[in-house]
Amino acid sequence: MTSSDPAVQGAWAYEGLHVRALFEQWVDPVLEIAAVKSGDAVLDVACGTGVLAREAYRRVGSGGAVAGLDIGPGMLEVANSIEPGVRWVEGDAGDLPFEDDEFDAVVSQFGMMFFPDRVGAIREMLRCVKPGGPVVVAVWEALERSAAYPISVDVLQRMAGQGAADALRAPFVLGDTAELESLFREAGASEVSLETRIGTARFPSVRTMVEADLLGWLPVMGVNLDQALIDEILTEAEEALSQYVTPNGKMVFDAPAHIVTARA
Ligand SMILES: C[S@@+](CC[C@H](N)C(=O)[O-])C[C@H]1O[C@@H](n2cnc3c(N)ncnc32)[C@H](O)[C@@H]1O
Repeated sequence: MTSSDPAVQGAWAYEGLHVRALFEQWVDPVLEIAAVKSGDAVLDVACGTGVLAREAYRRVGSGGAVAGLDIGPGMLEVANSIEPGVRWVEGDAGDLPFEDDEFDAVVSQFGMMFFPDRVGAIREMLRCVKPGGPVVVAVWEALERSAAYPISVDVLQRMAGQGAADALRAPFVLGDTAELESLFREAGASEVSLETRIGTARFPSVRTMVEADLLGWLPVMGVNLDQALIDEILTEAEEALSQYVTPNGKMVFDAPAHIVTARA
């Protein structure tokens, strides 16, 4: 890492901590459900540091093409330094800078919770996919069904206040499957199907998981805590989350997610 830009440093932290522990494992299911194959043109919306787009790029081969769009320039700078072969585009999911019917598949994982206009973003994804092509979107299950996270949110609420706790609640707001499906119907999808899979969060330790949230995630949501408070939260969290620690000191827990497939 050479950049002194906090957004780029945050994106490297996100790539090193969260992507490995949580996001990487969803890449294969999402691309398999989207049936991405050699020669395809694929769009990854809210691509972050590019874990999904990178694997799509590998699968489509030299005859295909992949674009990754994100609103965060820091995320895209990291994405581009890892895989310059993908076309990285800064933009908003609600206003995709692509042609109608440009892609064989449009995919998106763990970004939709943060879109201010989710129906508009789904409408845009449906517009950019070829007729009959899939739009495949993964989102986290509800907070109360996400193992260790309700405990982490509780610790943050008590020790760092509502803003910090809400930043950690935000990724789980699309857990209700009826509401989730209705967003796709409202956006004009003619076909919508949904499956829930249980992934596994694997952090090297409780400390690493909590640091991932405090130093990797909260700053992305605009919440920066001072070091003394971070140290206190880490001590409290080691105790509160001890039930998820394996005999070799790792932290492992269920991480369920919904994967929606829609067609225009
Ligand atoms: C939890 S990350 C997921 C990133 C990536 N898909 C992954 O699997 O690692 C959420 C991403 O959504 C992006 N994002 C949030 N709002 C957005 C918007 N309106 N348009 C595009 N990207 C957005 C953020 O910048 C962030 O990179």
